[in-house]
Amino acid sequence: MSLVEQAHRAGRAFTDGLARDEQKELGQFMTPPAIARFMARRLVQDYEGRVARILEPAAGAGILAAATVEELLARPTKPERVELLLFEYDARLLPALEQLRHGLREACASARVGFDCKIEHGDFLLSHTALSGTPINGLLTIANPPFFKLNKAADERATLHSYAVYGQPNIYALFMAACARLTPPDGRWCFITPRSWMSGTYFKATRQSLLRHLTFDGLHAFESRTEGFEEDSVLQETVIAWARGRSQVEAGTSILFTRSQGVADLDSAEVQAVPATRVVSNDEHAMLSLPHRQEDLFAGWTATLKTYGLEVSTGPVVAFRAKKFIRETAERGTVPLLWLQHVRQQSIRWPVQKKREHILANAESAWMLVRNEPMVVMRRFSPKEDERRVTCAAYGCSPDRLPGDVIGLENHLNYIYRPGGRMTVFEARGLSAFLASKVVDDHFRGLAGSTQVNATELRKLPLPPLAVIEEIGERISMSPTLAEIDAVVNAVLGVGKRAQVAA
Ligand SMILES: C[S@@+](CC[C@H](N)C(=O)[O-])C[C@H]1O[C@@H](n2cnc3c(N)ncnc32)[C@H](O)[C@@H]1O
Repeated sequence: MSLVEQAHRAGRAFTDGLARDEQKELGQFMTPPAIARFMARRLVQDYEGRVARILEPAAGAGILAAATVEELLARPTKPERVELLLFEYDARLLPALEQLRHGLREACASARVGFDCKIEHGDFLLSHTALSGTPINGLLTIANPPFFKLNKAADERATLHSYAVYGQPNIYALFMAACARLTPPDGRWCFITPRSWMSGTYFKATRQSLLRHLTFDGLHAFESRTEGFEEDSVLQETVIAWARGRSQVEAGTSILFTRSQGVADLDSAEVQAVPATRVVSNDEHAMLSLPHRQEDLFAGWTATLKTYGLEVSTGPVVAFRAKKFIRETAERGTVPLLWLQHVRQQSIRWPVQKKREHILANAESAWMLVRNEPMVVMRRFSPKEDERRVTCAAYGCSPDRLPGDVIGLENHLNYIYRPGGRMTVFEARGLSAFLASKVVDDHFRGLAGSTQVNATELRKLPLPPLAVIEEIGERISMSPTLAEIDAVVNAVLGVGKRAQVAA
């Protein structure tokens, strides 16, 4: 039996014997093995300390410490020594911890890893360790703390940890903050808790304290309200947070964000790498917000083309009516006429020499010609087999812009432009890439209707902030592939793909 299993069984045996009220009173909800391993794996990932000091401040039967040791011993480069510090308030759990210590010692011995394990019976928040607030070299804290409200005035724990108290404190937040203070720059910290600390007003001081000592680098949200601890059917929404001790250099960190319904789908959780600045608000409230789900993105955007002064129109040149202006070959006074065939995914090819691709520009035809400047040109019709619903290209953005002051756009094309103004190159390129992206494709596919995306649908499409569109335009290459588009759009929007969390 693995050490995690051993701790799990001991923990279950204990909680099975408790009445619900009793269990609640000390917050005795044990972590299931799959979650314990999930927490530990990311905690020790790329940890290189020679002496791994593991703190489980609310140990229960020690499942989180057990999972951490198992992960460390499974690595090709093991630490030279493992030192554990386990705190538990309830004396009834001490025999389970003693037994686990025995198993841990044996496991370390057979891996030739030095070992020490202290089990402290008492209140972690009143311990010398917690009150000293002194960082411990190489510390790895892993915790599922108790949660219940404390009386701010009467409970000495609230007074002694007042640096993390603002309004009515919850004991779990004091555990988080107390452990954050102990985390040195090379240390790691991982907690599974209810979500309320991330944005609740009463947790403001806790968040400020956490951010003083830690840099968050991972978050996992359980979406279902019951599954996080399905065995105990705890009704709070749970979140796991991973962090490192704060160091001098903190530039450009991103947070690996995952979410799952519960335990069963942990390994296929959705993964997003989100810039830390998008998660943690840069003001005195220091709130943390979970990134939107990919499908929620559009719901969060209120802008449309109109917001940015943009319009979508259909190419004004109707071939049979404009017959007398259309030419097979270039001649004096003609300008390019773009047909559907000239518009490829993210590039314009003209001339193709198969079409009547020139049009006479004169006073009579002027009304059906458009200004030769940056815009997004797209096919109105595309075969069902096309990989994306939208096939479009940024026009007029490259140095080899087509000649002439005006050009012709045939009626099978739509184009997006700024009436009474001019689109910038980055707007056109960003919008073109965005429209061809998987994110937008999924959105259009999710809407009922024909396979063609028409002007009305484009007008209704919710858009991200203009600065985001421009950033996509700046980062994208001249004729990007769909893979490049998805990589850039996902990175700028902070959305991810489904991937193996365990990888
Ligand atoms: C939510 S359980 C988690 C147990 C175990 N770490 C796990 O993940 O399964 C919290 C544990 O902390 C203990 N506890 C409660 N208050 C405590 C305190 N002030 N100091 C230390 N342990 C405490 C409880 O008895 C319980 O065993």
